Amino acid sequence: MRLKRRDVLAGLMAAAAMPGPTLGSDGIVPITAREGKLRLAPPGYPETAIWGYDGGVPGPVIRLTQGTRLHRRLVNRLSQPTAIHWHGVRVENAMDGVPGMTMDAVPTGGHFDYDCRMPDAGTFWYHSHNQSAEQVARGLYGPLIVDEPDPVDVDHDVIVIVDDWRVTEEAQIHESFGQMHDLSHAGRLGNYVHIEMLPRLNTLRRNERLRLRFINPSTDRILELGLMGLEGWVMALDGMPLEAPRPLDNILLAPAQRMDVFVDVTAETGEALILQKERDGGYVLAEFAVQDGVSRSRRSEPKPLPPNPVQNVIPGEDMRKLMMVMEGGAMGGLRDAVYKGQRMSMRDLVTNGQVWALNGVAGLPDAPWVRLSLGEKVQISLVNDTAFPHAMHLHGHHFREILPDGGFGPLRDTLLVNRGQRREIAFVADNPGKWLFHCHMLSHQTAGMKTWLQVGEG
Ligand code: C2O
Ligand code: CU
Repeated sequence: MRLKRRDVLAGLMAAAAMPGPTLGSDGIVPITAREGKLRLAPPGYPETAIWGYDGGVPGPVIRLTQGTRLHRRLVNRLSQPTAIHWHGVRVENAMDGVPGMTMDAVPTGGHFDYDCRMPDAGTFWYHSHNQSAEQVARGLYGPLIVDEPDPVDVDHDVIVIVDDWRVTEEAQIHESFGQMHDLSHAGRLGNYVHIEMLPRLNTLRRNERLRLRFINPSTDRILELGLMGLEGWVMALDGMPLEAPRPLDNILLAPAQRMDVFVDVTAETGEALILQKERDGGYVLAEFAVQDGVSRSRRSEPKPLPPNPVQNVIPGEDMRKLMMVMEGGAMGGLRDAVYKGQRMSMRDLVTNGQVWALNGVAGLPDAPWVRLSLGEKVQISLVNDTAFPHAMHLHGHHFREILPDGGFGPLRDTLLVNRGQRREIAFVADNPGKWLFHCHMLSHQTAGMKTWLQVGEG
């Protein structure tokens, strides 16, 4: 029996060795969502049963050059329907991978062909967008790297994925999905933070320069990371280069956010570290032995990465003004909201597993929250009227924050809005289609915190 055999095979098996998903005559490369095993916990513990692309977590690194196209056939060998979303990539709407909105979920045994252009260079990622609070927690995600056309002057280019897992004492994924306490509070927080570095480096030389591409695929955890013996600059956020490199201090990553940093190995002797910071101190996620360098001094400050071709809003420009109020959750004081077209009390909302609302609506409405004409410039006030932070993510576009001093922040696709905060974002609605706007704390998204925009006709 095929299924049985797959279960027994370890996650290290390459997809090519699998009883092959049928290649079309076009030879499109498959990416198979299936069960696998991950060495998550230290030796002595069993491997962790996961769901992964090609059976691994993270899924295969997809690496392309800016301006080229990504072709992949998603093959579903899971027991649940699934879909891939290319997070942060300004794809055509039909390739956005949102079941019920841009495609049908791929059933068990089915497949879907993705073909999308990569307009921007940077660090992106892909993940399941169906029952994502469960599927991403089980491991259905991977890095998507789009290279600048010209090489960048670094010695190592490393993808750093830091994920938060909720595991049992046997190092197996805790099957506690959709618990109301998680949904209504800070989400499904884990008990085991795990780092994956691709490639895995053990030794560094003094004065080497590294590009570290941090990705937070955690369903709900906001990560705070730090470095020791590595000093440098923030170069890009959510795949989009900063206009000027910014000296690096803290690495704060809400779920789905990315940060590209360039760091030089400055440790005098011994070791350099990547740390996870928590209220009560720090945990070492990775350590590197540092050896004498080839070069005696540091390089000079890096030039900014080349900008991506994003239509920008300009300070002072006329924009359509909208407001998005986040409500609900525990200690949030939400009394009622509309769900599936009906006004419901908080109690009935809880019965329906919906405890968060955007502008008084819980869950995905049939009609868009707003219709924007193609090319329209919009400013959205994000008002967090809840007791929790939220990582608001817009599909198909990057936006800029309008800062309190009137200046503009960097381009982002996911913005962390803390409790009680009001933040302004602005963008040009230049990508036609139906685009989700949701909290990327996937537990919150599941429990109602999502809506959508229509850009252009539709
Ligand atoms: Cu990263 Cu709607 O998702
Ligand atoms: Cu949230």
